[in-house]
Amino acid sequence: MAHEKTIWPGSTQLAPVPAVLVGCGDGKTFKYNLITVAWAGTVCSDPAMLAIAVRPERFSFAPISQLKEFTVNLPPVSLAAELDRCGVVSGRDCDKFELCHLTPVAGEKVSAPLVAECPVALECRVTQPIELGSHTLFLAEILAVQVQSDLIDDKGKFDIDRAHLIAYAHGHYYQLGECIGHFGYSVRRKPGSIVRK
Ligand SMILES: Cc1cc2nc3c(=O)[nH]c(=O)nc-3n(C[C@H](O)[C@H](O)[C@H](O)COP(=O)(O)O)c2cc1C
Repeated sequence: MAHEKTIWPGSTQLAPVPAVLVGCGDGKTFKYNLITVAWAGTVCSDPAMLAIAVRPERFSFAPISQLKEFTVNLPPVSLAAELDRCGVVSGRDCDKFELCHLTPVAGEKVSAPLVAECPVALECRVTQPIELGSHTLFLAEILAVQVQSDLIDDKGKFDIDRAHLIAYAHGHYYQLGECIGHFGYSVRRKPGSIVRK
């Protein structure tokens, strides 16, 4: 039967998810560092908030929990190897900005560094850490968003197709594919949208 299911124990099967470069540290008390995070998501529209889940044993944990600031940088496909690398080496042992030839840029609202080469960076301030088990969830308010200017179209919208962002699913990195519809298209059918049955 096509819809027959196999029951597995509860596990982290949600996919696809973003995989982002989280910038932390202030360059003073804590050196600038990057950590790759896939357990990340938008959690509130007003105020604009997101959450990231970080294991306490990560080098990045102390700067994020103590400074209460971080940045979320959305990497393009051209930075997939750097995204992976920042997720397998520790800031304890190296300077990841140098290692990956990435450029730290000062935030407008936070002391944590942005990654110049990423088309979008969200500047975040932690509002609440929540210890969950293996990971601590950092709920954070998004104070500012820096968007690469040449990716903003005539209507003032971020041209996501030209940003070539990465999705992550079950241990693999993917490039975002063909757009198959837009918010509400199922009730406001427009010419050109694909109807899936
Ligand atoms: C694709 C990918 C996703 C990851 N997601 C997370 C995550 O959500 N939370 C986390 O604590 N570690 C995550 N990691 C592991 C950390 O990025 C990794 O342990 C990193 O080396 C920690 O760096 P640090 O010690 O400099 O903080 C991920 C790694 C990869 C490659």
